[in-house]
Amino acid sequence: MLRRIVRFLTFCLLVSFVGTQLSQSQDKPLTRDEAKQIKSPVPYTKASIARGRILYTNDCTGCHGNDGKAQVDVIADATDLTEPKLWKSGTTEGEVFRSIRDGAGISMPPYKNQIRNPEDLWHLVNFIRSLWPEAQRPKLQEEK
Ligand code: HEC
Repeated sequence: MLRRIVRFLTFCLLVSFVGTQLSQSQDKPLTRDEAKQIKSPVPYTKASIARGRILYTNDCTGCHGNDGKAQVDVIADATDLTEPKLWKSGTTEGEVFRSIRDGAGISMPPYKNQIRNPEDLWHLVNFIRSLWPEAQRPKLQEEK
């Protein structure tokens, strides 16, 4: 009986250890080089952009403004999201994902605890890229 209990407790410890290891490795901030290697699992489609727009309206307009230009009520000098040429933390899809997930510069907060589903972060990346000048936007993909 005692041996059974000990075995059970050891099992529980192991499960919780592996659990925290996994969640920590997922939450660890990405380096810029790691981010550059990441490819979006969410295609750039109208549906994804629409989903990103809803998330953006909920979480981002306070600093970046409705149109992404952040020229009204500027707080903490938020980047003009419509001008990728001026960006400081990179414009590849993985780098934009990183800026949103882990934060950027000193005053862009990380969103990984607020937006827990990585797919939602990718919808945001797609929406943000839809604000760019046409020549810099990705090519719109067909819905499946
Ligand atoms: C508290 C204000 C604030 C909020 C809220 C905020 N941002 Fe930012 N954001 C900033 C600031 C300030 C910067 C510029 C950081 C810097 O100095 O590099 C920035 C930078 C960025 C960048 C990187 C641009 C670059 O220069 O490379 C992206 C992308 C971005 N924000 C997207 C978002 C998205 C998407 C949301 C909502 C999920 C959001 N931000 C919410 C303040 C904010």
